[in-house]
Amino acid sequence: MVLVIGPYFVFATTLRHGVRWGERMKMLEALAPGDRDRELALALDPAGIPAHIAIIMDGNGRWAKRRGLPRIAGHKVGVATVRSVVEDCANLGVQALTLYAFSAENWKRPRAEIDMLWRLLRFYLRHELEDLQRNNIRLQSIGHVEALPEKAYEELRAVERATARNQGMRLNLAINYSARIELVDAVNAIVDEARIEGRLSDLTIDEKMISRRLYTAGLPEPDLLIRTSGEMRISNFLLWQIAYAELYVTETLWPDFNRTELLRAILDFQKRERRFGGLSNAAPCDDASRGAQQPGEDLEIAGIVVSSQ
Ligand code: FPP
Repeated sequence: MVLVIGPYFVFATTLRHGVRWGERMKMLEALAPGDRDRELALALDPAGIPAHIAIIMDGNGRWAKRRGLPRIAGHKVGVATVRSVVEDCANLGVQALTLYAFSAENWKRPRAEIDMLWRLLRFYLRHELEDLQRNNIRLQSIGHVEALPEKAYEELRAVERATARNQGMRLNLAINYSARIELVDAVNAIVDEARIEGRLSDLTIDEKMISRRLYTAGLPEPDLLIRTSGEMRISNFLLWQIAYAELYVTETLWPDFNRTELLRAILDFQKRERRFGGLSNAAPCDDASRGAQQPGEDLEIAGIVVSSQ
């Protein structure tokens, strides 16, 4: 009975609520009744899953230090967290996930730690390719990856090529990434094109032209930016794209950031009122205009007179 009703229910609800409900069911299928994550997943609004989630994965070093382990142990467990978060986001119907794996400033770290990060990246790529294919995920790097050691660079490009036709979630790995450099790259690309086409003297740059040349061009802007380990910083990450992202900072260190934490972050996001600089939907239009200042009329609010002249 369950075998018959299960797929029918997923199909019917997918028809009613769109593909996201079906995707969410994909996560629910893996969660046994009584599982705390199942309750959290059921509490989600399927229509309000963020299209794009960006994550600053922080706290690997502290996680290791608290256990008396070398920092690299935190990075190793951090890779396992990456694997589970990627799968969970794909199962929730997130369209794009961008993970900050290595900033352009991270070269200041000890050589041994950096070398180990490249080894971990290669390990991840080798072990994850099968899962990426199975989940129809397209992996793409953003950042100046040509500066990586050759083997890491080649393996990264190979996985990008192998997953290039996947139509499911887009997984962006920000590696040797700097948002400021991304913006400089975009502006330089615009100027170069104009120079080649002989339009440099008439060039006026607008927002669309910049957006189209960002590393994330074509993707929705992040709706939700998560930072683990409690630091209240953006750290040169997606500065243009997060203009209207909702921020979620958790004290949880990245190696401990599990499915429960992800679901909590999305539930918190779904409670936010996003106004994009406008007014709340709840405010009726005539409320906003009622009492508006008329030409030639002075307006007094709390003892302050504002002249219309
Ligand atoms: C920040 O923690 C973490 C990093 C700079 C590296 C993130 C890398 C991984 C999670 C593993 C590799 C990633 C992939 C995609 C395979 P931190 O070291 O700054 O921690 P701390 O602030 O506690 O010192």
